[in-house]
Amino acid sequence: MLKHDINELLTQTGPGTPMGDLFRRYWLPVLLTEELPEDDCPPVRIKILGERLLAFRDSQGRYGLIDEFCAHRGVSLWFGRNEDSGIRCPYHGWKFDYTGQCVEIPSEPAEKESNLCAKIKLTGYPMVAVGDVLWAYMGPPEHRPPEPVWEFATVPSAQTFTSKRWQESNWLQALEGGIDSSHVSWLHSDGLRNDPLFKGAEGNKYNLSDRKPFFEVVEADGGLMIGVRRNAEEGRYYWRITPWIMPSFTMVPPRGDHPVHGHFWIPIDDENCWVFTFDYHPVRELTDGEVQAMKDGHGVHNEYVPGTYRPLQNKDNDYLMDREAQKRGDTYSGVKGIAMQDASLQESMGPIVDRSKEKLVSTDTGIIMARQRLRKAAEQLRDGGVEPPGIRPEHQLVRSAAVVLPAGEPFLEGAGEALKVRAGIPQASV
Ligand code: FES
Ligand SMILES: [Fe+2]
Repeated sequence: MLKHDINELLTQTGPGTPMGDLFRRYWLPVLLTEELPEDDCPPVRIKILGERLLAFRDSQGRYGLIDEFCAHRGVSLWFGRNEDSGIRCPYHGWKFDYTGQCVEIPSEPAEKESNLCAKIKLTGYPMVAVGDVLWAYMGPPEHRPPEPVWEFATVPSAQTFTSKRWQESNWLQALEGGIDSSHVSWLHSDGLRNDPLFKGAEGNKYNLSDRKPFFEVVEADGGLMIGVRRNAEEGRYYWRITPWIMPSFTMVPPRGDHPVHGHFWIPIDDENCWVFTFDYHPVRELTDGEVQAMKDGHGVHNEYVPGTYRPLQNKDNDYLMDREAQKRGDTYSGVKGIAMQDASLQESMGPIVDRSKEKLVSTDTGIIMARQRLRKAAEQLRDGGVEPPGIRPEHQLVRSAAVVLPAGEPFLEGAGEALKVRAGIPQASV
């Protein structure tokens, strides 16, 4: 249970809010590289952390992420002309470069123009491509961290695949689904049996046979290591270990030799978020079949309303709920696909769930500790300027793991090096 003011602290990420300031200290995924596929391609409007922004790629391949609206009289620069290394407002021709600097005011006399231009700059944030993702840093320039080094984004491109979807809920309830692995035995039980990117792993049988998992959560430098224990053979436990790295990166424990997946949950505003979903294999290329399955919406990906990043199954069509499939047991909830099973329930809580009414139990330990860590980090940043966890590259070099350990062996020790990125060595998986 959370008091209203704490719920607000954790869920509000607009400019000037404590959690908003926290998010602004990290490189955040904001677009897929496929959205700006070539120099001078059409710009993209996006909203991140409540700010309306325009992303574009200029004639020299530089990425710009600037205020969406023209400094002159507020026209949306999405209507602009992306040409000659800048975006030109179509109203009176003012032009801005990839940093947001005004570089031309063609309607003014030449001697006035350069003076005026120098004084006019739109908000602009650095944006870089790492892997299939464009990352932005929206915080104070003096605190800009080194560029992201997450393994899924730095392995060769044939080993990794990323998608994104719009979720109509606050970011935190989406993240909380990512660190609550107890729901898998219920909500996703069909996926464990049938999904091409899940099925066949030895470990699935433990998920399905022991539905009373035990949570053990340990603080890590960048966030938490969330260990979830289920009974395996006599005297042994099956552990699924999920890293959560501040503020919103989670990585699902692997299953067999399937690619490993995970998410970033990025606030659009307080009632919407982007879910960036990746799948990668640390040591081998993804097969054509795997990539096709991801594109078809299997695993933790989803299908789309054509031409958009909105899921095909969404709240306007009740997620294509199939009561017959629910009754037959083909799906547990009646909603098809792991991603939309999660999204449907998280959106059903309302855009910002009222956490003063919840009744938390032992399987919510990861969620409780993540909230405490987020709150502490936001308050320490606000009150003392303390750098939050998860910013440093070494905090990002983590892996999830699925291991069977002798009863009594602490999971951190038992998994050991398997929880770190190790070049050339596959994920630890059952
Ligand atoms: S409103 Fe953009 S140039 Fe006038
Ligand atoms: Fe889920």
